[in-house]
Amino acid sequence: MTGHSRKMQIDTAIIGAGAAGMMCAAHSKGRVLIVDHARTPGEKIRISGGGRCNFTNMHCTASAFLSGNPHFAKSALARYTQWDFIELVDQHNIAWHEKTLGQLFCDTSAKEIVAMLRGLMQKAGVDLRLQSNASNFAKTENGYSFDLQTPDGTTKVATRNLVIATGGKSIPKMGATGFAYDIAAQFGVPVTPTRAGLVPFTFAEGRFATISGVATPAKVTANGTTFEEALLFTHRGLSGPAVLQASSYWHEGQPITVNLAPTTDIFTALRTQRQTAGRRNLTTELAHLLPARLVEHLAGQIDLSGNLADWSDSRLQYLCTTLQAWELHPSGTEGYRTAEVTLGGIDTDALSSRSMESKTTQGLYFIGEAVDVTGWLGGYNFQWAWSSGMAAARAI
Ligand code: FDA
Repeated sequence: MTGHSRKMQIDTAIIGAGAAGMMCAAHSKGRVLIVDHARTPGEKIRISGGGRCNFTNMHCTASAFLSGNPHFAKSALARYTQWDFIELVDQHNIAWHEKTLGQLFCDTSAKEIVAMLRGLMQKAGVDLRLQSNASNFAKTENGYSFDLQTPDGTTKVATRNLVIATGGKSIPKMGATGFAYDIAAQFGVPVTPTRAGLVPFTFAEGRFATISGVATPAKVTANGTTFEEALLFTHRGLSGPAVLQASSYWHEGQPITVNLAPTTDIFTALRTQRQTAGRRNLTTELAHLLPARLVEHLAGQIDLSGNLADWSDSRLQYLCTTLQAWELHPSGTEGYRTAEVTLGGIDTDALSSRSMESKTTQGLYFIGEAVDVTGWLGGYNFQWAWSSGMAAARAI
């Protein structure tokens, strides 16, 4: 700032101090300003992974991401990999463990990741402005100008580079906004339609209310893509990792298919039991293979009456097929209120995959969740934030 005129001349302004923005700020050269309207940076990091932050995935490749262009993420992911981020975490003595499926979590607290990024920014001399807003953006001869409103007043900022890292629309209560899409519209950068991803399904009133809290391993298929993990019945519908994963592939009006016996051969198990215990109820036996409350619920939907001896091979076979290809019609999803991510966003066709810079507007970069690159559940979305943030930082 110069005297009372409240003007600031910098090299790079980053809007949004989340995962991608902080990563980019910490590794950018020159005079860097990072602005966030929140009270603290990296709030989503802090609450992620149940407070332990699933910060990356050991199996991260571009095939774990949804995007209008499935090749777009390859360059950034290859030039800053999960192993690079693990090395950074190790350098900061943050203890971690693999929980499942290559998912890496902090042993102690997600706050350690936020502290690491804040520390890196401080070391790099980054100017962090919280509870601040940026508005009135304009293209200038040498870059961009905008008004920065901080708790102590307004400053006119002139910057060579402008990096938009304000994330997607998920969880507005935590400060998520459509800011990135508005800036894109202002500078003529196309945006693909957005929708909630990694989000629970809802069903017509009370569909699974009686079995809310029941969890079971399942294969869930939406739009031809299948995930095998836990499924959880909720008051409003379905959740659990298998369901959240499938939700990113689902489109309004489509059915989903649930296989409730992904690893158990129910047919053989029931047939074997029939030989020695034919007088037992089918539901009693089925409750040894599936959660008892789920069996009770299913008995209200399909005929499960009678003893095992009453069930012929073909009836058993039909039952197994039903349990392995249970077609359900979600009425919708819980939407941005609880979605972990936003699908769609800044059209990847408009960005350089090497630097995340707009192809048509020099010096304008979009990184992180704002871009139309969305990862699976399991640390992939943070890896995209680190990799895309790093891609822009190296180019700046
Ligand atoms: P991010 O949302 O992190 O940051 C955007 C920043 O911009 C915020 O600080 C916000 O305040 C600020 N901002 C927004 N609008 C602004 C404006 N107009 N002006 C100024 N500032 C503005 N992923 C994963 O890989 N592992 C995990 O364990 C989890 N867990 C998880 C839990 C929950 C509950 C949620 C909601 C999400 C996850 N995720 C996750 C997803 C992950 O949090 C997400 O993909 C990244 O945070 C995206 O990073 P960005 O930096 O792009 O946006």
